[in-house]
Amino acid sequence: MDNDKAYRILNDLLTEPRLGRLYSAMKTMYSELKISHNWEHIMRVTLNAVVLGTEENANLRLVIPAALLHDIGFVTNPSEPKKHNEYGASACHSYLTEWSEAERKKISDIILKHKGKYPGYTAYEPSTPEEKVLCDADQIDKFGWVGLLQVIKVYAEYGSIGYKNFDTLRGLAEGIEEASHIELYTDAARKMAEALKEPSYHEVSKSVLAELAFYEGWKD
Ligand SMILES: [Fe+2]
Ligand SMILES: [Fe+2]
Repeated sequence: MDNDKAYRILNDLLTEPRLGRLYSAMKTMYSELKISHNWEHIMRVTLNAVVLGTEENANLRLVIPAALLHDIGFVTNPSEPKKHNEYGASACHSYLTEWSEAERKKISDIILKHKGKYPGYTAYEPSTPEEKVLCDADQIDKFGWVGLLQVIKVYAEYGSIGYKNFDTLRGLAEGIEEASHIELYTDAARKMAEALKEPSYHEVSKSVLAELAFYEGWKD
């Protein structure tokens, strides 16, 4: 899909007044926050969701509000990043008062199941096209050169709150290796990932660990 088509589809969706209001509210709220899952990330995921949702025939009227709200759990409960999907699935309701209860439930489920799957992480399995599309749209932000920078930024932030060994370069390299095993759910996302296969996270991780060996060999 060319860029202009994706922008056009999103612009059309945002003419729906309640969605336009949600977009503006999220943009304002995120602009105050200095976190890795910031407005830039939300917008990359939202645009990925437009592309994937269109190609997978998902209902974008559910996927896009979910994309805008998907990481709200990082904002409400910053000390527990691993559970941000669960926190987000309940926190989203208060932003969706203009949506029906049935819609809110679906959007909440999309948020609950967005976390992605790779070794060492348990995830709620996405099952509907909308759930699969948002999950993949978020994971695509861990592919390619932009993805590599985002992975490092996110993991370094986790490291600063004591999560895993992500406060060390070894920890970051191990995290990058983990990110090379992400499982995608849709053909559209696999196609997008194929275009973003450089750099190989496996190679990046291996090279960093090889260079670190010299420094890690020091014994005092
Ligand atoms: Fe997330
Ligand atoms: Fe995200």
